[in-house]
Amino acid sequence: MNAYSETVFNAKTKIYTGVSSIKKLGPVLQEMGAHRILMVTDQGIKHSGILKNVLGEISENIEVLIYDEVKPNPDVASIDETANIYRNKEISALVAVGGGSVIDSAKALAIVLTNESSISTYYGFDQYTEKALPLIAVPTTVGTGSESGNAAVITDETDGLKTKKLVFGEDLFPRVAILDASLLRAMPSGLIASTGMDALTHAIEGYVSIWSSHFTDSLNLHAVRVIGKSILPAIAHSENTEAMHGMLLASSITGLGMANSGLGMVHGISHAIGAQYDAPHGIVNAILLPYLLEYNWIANPEKFKDIAEALRVNIEGLSVEEAAKAAVAYVKNLTKEAGIPEKLGAIGVSKDQIDVLVDIAFHDAQYMVPNPRKMSRQDIYNILDQSI
Ligand SMILES: NC(=O)c1ccc[n+]([C@@H]2O[C@H](COP(=O)([O-])OP(=O)(O)OC[C@H]3O[C@@H](n4cnc5c(N)ncnc54)[C@H](O)[C@@H]3O)[C@@H](O)[C@H]2O)c1
Ligand SMILES: [Fe+2]
Repeated sequence: MNAYSETVFNAKTKIYTGVSSIKKLGPVLQEMGAHRILMVTDQGIKHSGILKNVLGEISENIEVLIYDEVKPNPDVASIDETANIYRNKEISALVAVGGGSVIDSAKALAIVLTNESSISTYYGFDQYTEKALPLIAVPTTVGTGSESGNAAVITDETDGLKTKKLVFGEDLFPRVAILDASLLRAMPSGLIASTGMDALTHAIEGYVSIWSSHFTDSLNLHAVRVIGKSILPAIAHSENTEAMHGMLLASSITGLGMANSGLGMVHGISHAIGAQYDAPHGIVNAILLPYLLEYNWIANPEKFKDIAEALRVNIEGLSVEEAAKAAVAYVKNLTKEAGIPEKLGAIGVSKDQIDVLVDIAFHDAQYMVPNPRKMSRQDIYNILDQSI
């Protein structure tokens, strides 16, 4: 794609930011005229105390139903079964409080509750007919950006093969997102590292994507800049509000960027692994990122040079190619400083299933097509062989 190719930039979510912005939740629900809401969350959020703080913002005249059983990497069965519990309950809106797994589950429920079939019928773009229920997203991780994008990632198992599928649509943009870093004061540092590296992966893959545009570049490159400056201080201390605010905003900024630019093969390979091994999305991405950057940089050295600059790498006197390689080296080292293991073997991925993983990733057009360097099966195999 060149700078003047035809593109569309799509954005819909009203985003409230800042310390104490969670106070907007009550007025937003009143404005929507909500009388009964479904709060979607998980056990980790419940035990962290975040859920209690959020519930405290909802007026007593709104009835709150709580579904707190979302599991990481939500699957078709969990969505369909939950929808059966809450169908015909006259729910006016959903409020998702959690990471990507919770927000994606809420998006999927918002569709399935007003449409008749299984979530597996709605893979692809705008495949549902009835309008989804409105959704308010309160992210509690600093990675997926699901709160500002139009996708939900759902694990599917067909014929015994687990894969991650995407449901996209206009109604999957949350109506409202509330980014309040003060809710995340007790976030574990390992979770900041893994989800923060997911956000960095979105920003970099989005920036170098074949589908990128001036609009998406402005978001994705700025997110690289903010993450580069905030991620280590945030990992070091979750009460560093400035750093956590930076991470939370940057993950949403690139969430919107990537919704319009697409991603690349870190995500293609990571989704294959995430589905097969039920592995944490952020960690898998963080481990794969340096390997894919090493592979991809030759496709667009200029853009990799921009990434080096955004990460404040000293590139004075370097050629474009040298600066591009410096960006790759910097990210590799950042991953190490963030405490991310170097190999997928450390999180239980083995070479036994390498052929299955190659096959799934190779057929994932959503990530194969926008990846800046065209990949063969052998290339994917080599990356897995090195990174496992
Ligand atoms: N829709 C999208 O655009 C998009 C983009 C990237 C990833 N995803 C999907 O999102 C999912 C991953 O989401 P995630 O990385 O945000 O993690 P997650 O939602 O799976 O949460 C991981 C764990 O962290 C806990 N947790 C979350 N916030 C916490 C907090 N503040 N304090 C303490 N514990 C907390 C949760 O309880 C859970 O046990 C995957 O399914 C992935 O495929 C979606
Ligand atoms: Fe991701």
